[in-house]
Amino acid sequence: MKLRIKNVELRMKMSAILLTCLFLIPYSLFLITCSSDRSSQVTYSEDIAPLIYQHCTTCHRPESAGTFNLITCEDVRKHAKQIELVTRSRVMPPWPADFNYAHYAGENYLSDEEIKLLKTWIDNGAPEGDEKKIPLPPLFTAGSMIGKPDLVVKMNEPFPIKSNNKDRFMMMKLPVELDQDTFVKVIEIVPGNKKVVHHINAHLVQYNPDQKKDITKGNKLVDTEIMDKQEAFARLDLPNDDGSYPLLTPSVTNYLPGVVASIYPQGIGGYKLSRKSVLLLDNIHYGPSPIDTSDQSTFNFFFMPSPPTRPTFEFILGTSGIAPVVPPLVIQPNTVRTFKTQYTLHQDMSLLTINPHMHLLGKSFLAYAIKPGGDTVRLIRINSWDFRWQYFYNFKKMIYLPEGSTIYAEGTYDNTASNPNNPFDPPRVVAERNGSMRTTDEMFQLIVTYVPYKEGDENISLETSDKSK
Ligand code: HEC
Repeated sequence: MKLRIKNVELRMKMSAILLTCLFLIPYSLFLITCSSDRSSQVTYSEDIAPLIYQHCTTCHRPESAGTFNLITCEDVRKHAKQIELVTRSRVMPPWPADFNYAHYAGENYLSDEEIKLLKTWIDNGAPEGDEKKIPLPPLFTAGSMIGKPDLVVKMNEPFPIKSNNKDRFMMMKLPVELDQDTFVKVIEIVPGNKKVVHHINAHLVQYNPDQKKDITKGNKLVDTEIMDKQEAFARLDLPNDDGSYPLLTPSVTNYLPGVVASIYPQGIGGYKLSRKSVLLLDNIHYGPSPIDTSDQSTFNFFFMPSPPTRPTFEFILGTSGIAPVVPPLVIQPNTVRTFKTQYTLHQDMSLLTINPHMHLLGKSFLAYAIKPGGDTVRLIRINSWDFRWQYFYNFKKMIYLPEGSTIYAEGTYDNTASNPNNPFDPPRVVAERNGSMRTTDEMFQLIVTYVPYKEGDENISLETSDKSK
């Protein structure tokens, strides 16, 4: 591996400076202060490498989201100016949630001190320091953010996308055949072409092998805009051989920009995987593309040996959910407007994960809960919505909300010409149209993942150190 590259020229310069310093010390008080100044000692090997590995390398490595590597001193030096800029402005690492409001497992943002440290190092010419002291870079699995999968399923051919600037909504089936039934902890979606994959929702269709001879028959994909669901299911040959419907485990995995699959502690989450199953992508949304391109996405399955003791559940507030958007989501041109939704729980719950969702006009997002006694529980605040980074936020510990608690969510939309992401110029009425998920229509959702509450849940940490199991 070519991980340590010496910058010979810079080292020579450094030693020349050092020699001069040594020579001048007896004559100059100023230089004594210089040599004891902490800032002149910030080096890649001791200060910067650990920071980069922790905050940047997950995405900036081969086969990952970032467009270039940030591993070696040379990698970081090459982008030093840009790095100074994007860290100071907190564009990188991407972390839209306000860390002054709430904290999450695996959260990734830089402290003010870390930002200063990077700047000092860059201002000082980005010295490498003692090369031997560079820690080993973290180990990652190629093609995964979370570990080594037990089964990798890939779309069997690239899906072509035309340069017509149009959204495409497809339904696709990916047959999975195994020797025996098993259990899945998590399915990770790795988009083949991040520029066009806007979202993927997937369900598992689980067959009783006696009721379905061949799960590979039928179309592999259909365009859901030109037919209804029943017809799409028939074309994909999803029903059993006798026409009845197999078991469907809904919403087993989702992808939105920036999402990393959530892995919960042992026993929480997961589902059975029949030895004859179909991963049903219902649906896969390709955003508009100005160029001819294609996508071939991958699905990483992580197995577990036994059934989950506590399967997880999900509900949605807002668009297509169990609680309406108030007022209805119609955003007039040249306005900035806030919409709300709320829902009162009918059972004790332990919240695991939340996912706020809006499109291009999103400006800010707020969600909190009020318990029956009046206590407020902060869930999330996003001050500056970024369409590109729509994480599923896992709480540090499960959040206990007793029956009668109300969850409130507020989303503010900016439909003025000064919103640089406004898809229309001049601005037009933008609305939630019939549950349409088009990028240029809007949505307002808070997706909540939970398990029914059990005593002691509030002490269970959701930070996972071993991400593979
Ligand atoms: C969650 C994944 C992720 C993490 C973590 C991350 N980046 Fe990035 N970074 C990206 C992606 C993807 C891009 C490509 C541009 C985009 O889509 O916004 C990018 C772009 C950049 C750019 C180019 C910006 C530009 O204007 O073109 C710089 C510089 C950068 N990242 C530095 C960093 C640094 C420094 C860190 C750590 C402190 C970091 N990134 C952490 C995903 C990430």
